[in-house]
Amino acid sequence: MMGSVLLLSQILCLLFFHSHFQPSHSSSNFSSPVQLCPVDQSLALLQFKASFSMMSSSPSRDQPKTVLWREGTDCCSCDGVTCNMKTGHVIGLDLHYIMLHGTLHSSSTLFFLHHLQKLDLSHNDFNRSVISSSFGQLLHLTHLDLSTSNFTGQVPPEISHLSRLASLDLSKNNLMLEPISFNKLAQNLTQLRDLYLNGVNMSLVPSSFMNLSSSLTCLQLRYCELQGEFPFSLGKFKKLEYLDLAFNYFIGPMPDDFANHTRLACMDLSGNSFQGHLPFSLGNLNQFCNLTQLIQLHLSRNRFDGQISSSLGSLEKLNFLDLSSNNFSGKIPNSLFNLTQLTSLDLSDNNLVKPVEINPNDEWINVSKDLA
Ligand SMILES: *[C@@H]1O[C@H](CO)[C@@H](O)[C@H](O)[C@H]1NC(C)=O
Ligand SMILES: *[C@@H]1O[C@H](CO)[C@@H](O)[C@H](O)[C@H]1NC(C)=O
Ligand SMILES: *[C@@H]1O[C@H](CO)[C@@H](O)[C@H](O)[C@H]1NC(C)=O
Ligand SMILES: *[C@@H]1O[C@H](CO)[C@@H](O)[C@H](O)[C@H]1NC(C)=O
Ligand SMILES: *[C@@H]1O[C@H](CO)[C@@H](O)[C@H](O)[C@H]1NC(C)=O
Ligand SMILES: *[C@@H]1O[C@H](CO)[C@@H](O)[C@H](O)[C@H]1NC(C)=O
Ligand SMILES: *[C@@H]1O[C@H](CO)[C@@H](O)[C@H](O)[C@H]1NC(C)=O
Ligand SMILES: *[C@@H]1O[C@H](CO)[C@@H](O)[C@H](O)[C@H]1NC(C)=O
Ligand SMILES: *[C@@H]1O[C@H](CO)[C@@H](O)[C@H](O)[C@H]1NC(C)=O
Ligand SMILES: *[C@@H]1O[C@H](CO)[C@@H](O)[C@H](O)[C@H]1NC(C)=O
Ligand SMILES: *[C@@H]1O[C@H](CO)[C@@H](O)[C@H](O)[C@H]1NC(C)=O
Repeated sequence: MMGSVLLLSQILCLLFFHSHFQPSHSSSNFSSPVQLCPVDQSLALLQFKASFSMMSSSPSRDQPKTVLWREGTDCCSCDGVTCNMKTGHVIGLDLHYIMLHGTLHSSSTLFFLHHLQKLDLSHNDFNRSVISSSFGQLLHLTHLDLSTSNFTGQVPPEISHLSRLASLDLSKNNLMLEPISFNKLAQNLTQLRDLYLNGVNMSLVPSSFMNLSSSLTCLQLRYCELQGEFPFSLGKFKKLEYLDLAFNYFIGPMPDDFANHTRLACMDLSGNSFQGHLPFSLGNLNQFCNLTQLIQLHLSRNRFDGQISSSLGSLEKLNFLDLSSNNFSGKIPNSLFNLTQLTSLDLSDNNLVKPVEINPNDEWINVSKDLA
């Protein structure tokens, strides 16, 4: 029995040939009688792997790395597999970009790996599989990445069972998220810090995200077909560092409560229909407002108007500012040219007046249409 398990493990190691993270240990030994990886989990991994074919050619230029099989290893020391050192249970599986190809069925032995905490299946080709409700059985998951892997259909409501999730990435598939699933997810995933749903069709989800975890640090919802007004009060999400709501159908004003958002480093609201003046609190460094950590601000292709406030010049760390394709008018404030970190400034396609001195040869400044 032991022998056959060892043999399976070796085959398994042969088959798993790529990973970027290190196995947690490699203490087992071909001649050692200790089998760290439990038999059932070893088999589950092997059968999971065997249910897919490997694509022969890479869709991108980066070739998946081939890692040589080392003799005498058990599944815990296979690349991409992390085990709990004490119990041997498989707790981490990083199979991103190993060119898996085929359907991920709800009966897959992947779902026998109940101890999994981190699971990364991104950048494979699951051939338009639906995301199985069985993912909801992996109750120990803290990190789940299914991005860019050719999944389709509804995001199953059972994802909301994974109440320990700190990071969820379903980006860049062909998925739809129903309001009822979104609400469950928002209410139950109270540990969530990073949520990436870029490209998930959320057109039916109402535009209030107030039930999302207040511990969010990164929220990316690009191209989600979201509608309505700015979806939450910034006051609740004090830990936000990265906010991306670009290319949706949002309307109305930008919120004016950037007070105490000392951690926000990047905000991208491009390609919506936000309108009105830029909020006073953005860049106004008085005692109630503090956005000093802001590094990137993308507001292009909206309907903002009015003057560009000179207070933007107090966002000292800003290195990227894109206000292009809006309806800003008046003078370009000189304070912007005080921003020493700025490497890209795009103010083109507005109704702005040339400021005192702009050197048209400065490659990082694009005010072309206004200078014309
Ligand atoms: C592997 O087995 C050899 C011979 O039994 C032993 O000397 C060595 O300590 C073992 N290594 C590990 C990591 O268990
Ligand atoms: C992928 O899906 C297509 C169409 O549903 C099917 O014909 C094909 O056999 C599937 N390929 C694999 C590897 O499962
Ligand atoms: C997704 O799977 C379908 C088959 O179901 C296939 O035709 C298509 O090329 C795949 N797309 C990607 C990006 O792998
Ligand atoms: C919320 O999470 C708990 C614990 O995982 C689970 O028992 C419950 O069914 C979940 N509720 C929903 C609505 O998903
Ligand atoms: C998104 O979902 C809505 C509602 O089901 C549908 O009308 C729309 O066509 C979908 N968008 C895309 C790009 O598929
Ligand atoms: C937030 O959750 C509560 C409790 O389930 C619910 O009544 C409310 O409608 C939700 N709010 C939003 C904005 O979805
Ligand atoms: C911002 O922080 C200050 C000082 O900690 C506090 O007095 C103020 O109420 C906070 N503002 C908001 C909107 O939370
Ligand atoms: C703004 O935030 C920075 C960094 O968190 C802090 O050092 C500074 O005192 C804050 N300024 C005000 C006016 O709150
Ligand atoms: C742009 O702003 C000007 C006033 O500065 C106004 O006359 C014009 O209608 C606005 N254009 C759009 C498309 O809103
Ligand atoms: C640029 O910075 C200098 C030094 O901090 C300051 O004196 C000056 O007023 C600033 N200019 C503008 C236009 O904000
Ligand atoms: C400058 O802006 C114009 C109009 O928005 C755009 O067509 C052009 O590509 C931009 N140039 C650069 C160098 O970004």
